[in-house]
Amino acid sequence: MLAPAAIGFGKVILLGEHSVVYGYPALASALSCGVTIAAATGSLALVIPQWQVEVEVDASPEHPVAQAVAAIAAEVGRVAGRPSAEVSARLTGEAAIWAGAGLGSSAAMTVAVARALARHIGANLDDDAIRSAASCGERVFHGAPSGLDVALASSGGAGVFRRDTGLRPLSVPPLTLVIGNSGQPRSTARMVAHVAAVTAGDRADPRLCGLAEATDRGIDAISAADLPALGQAMRRAHSHLVELGVSTAGLDQMCRVAEAAGAYGAKLTGAGGGGCALALVGEQDDGAAVAAAWRDLGFATRIERLPRNDADAKLRANR
Ligand code: PMV
Repeated sequence: MLAPAAIGFGKVILLGEHSVVYGYPALASALSCGVTIAAATGSLALVIPQWQVEVEVDASPEHPVAQAVAAIAAEVGRVAGRPSAEVSARLTGEAAIWAGAGLGSSAAMTVAVARALARHIGANLDDDAIRSAASCGERVFHGAPSGLDVALASSGGAGVFRRDTGLRPLSVPPLTLVIGNSGQPRSTARMVAHVAAVTAGDRADPRLCGLAEATDRGIDAISAADLPALGQAMRRAHSHLVELGVSTAGLDQMCRVAEAAGAYGAKLTGAGGGGCALALVGEQDDGAAVAAAWRDLGFATRIERLPRNDADAKLRANR
């Protein structure tokens, strides 16, 4: 029998990617959609047609998706006090975000998998337990993630995340964000390793401090509903990400084009090395000009309006 779908939200980082790994805050928001997964009785498997994922866990034990699903199932069994053999289901997902593009796709998937498995075996796990199970899957993909993606994938909404204290929800003024996909594949783990190499893992590195300072300014700006100042913080953050070597010519071009089309600020979002750019437009701007400018260059776009309180509440009620 099919259980109702479980959701994990995608996310955008407005400010603070990479520096968040070193303990500094990040300002981020969940998207209104992500990955939804339904569970049916069967051997452990995950199918997400939009991402060309079709993995039978026992048949492909080396596949990273199989390893992630197995790790999540083991943790769901552990926290629910069930033998891992009982934590089994055929999971069918629907993805409404791009995979591997900096929008937290793997966290959206792992949170949805954890929720679907827990619900399928009748275990009533709280959000901490879901995050812990999802993080076991995230570690397969990302090694040592900050936890930001999993926190937002499970909670929805916007907030300030710190590694040591987790997510502090933040109410945001109305914002229109344009998201463009550079189409270049990238690996979060590789980009995080690159930053560790160029900074020698030193959190006092001036580029990481610059990112942290831009994030602080952005948090002040968003709290004061000062969108031009938030855009400026995004521009500064992008220049520090360039200095760290995690941007690309395509992402830099997208930022220039967005600002020329009237955006207050633009930057890469997520780990960089490809993936998505993010542009903040003004209060009276619907984002269409930036989206059209990016589409003219061949990039896929989506427009996200925050806060998504109504939509989030509906989705959460259904999860
Ligand atoms: O590109 P994404 O969606 O995997 O986001 C990565 C964000 C980083 O700060 C670079 C890494 C992390 O674990 O927070």
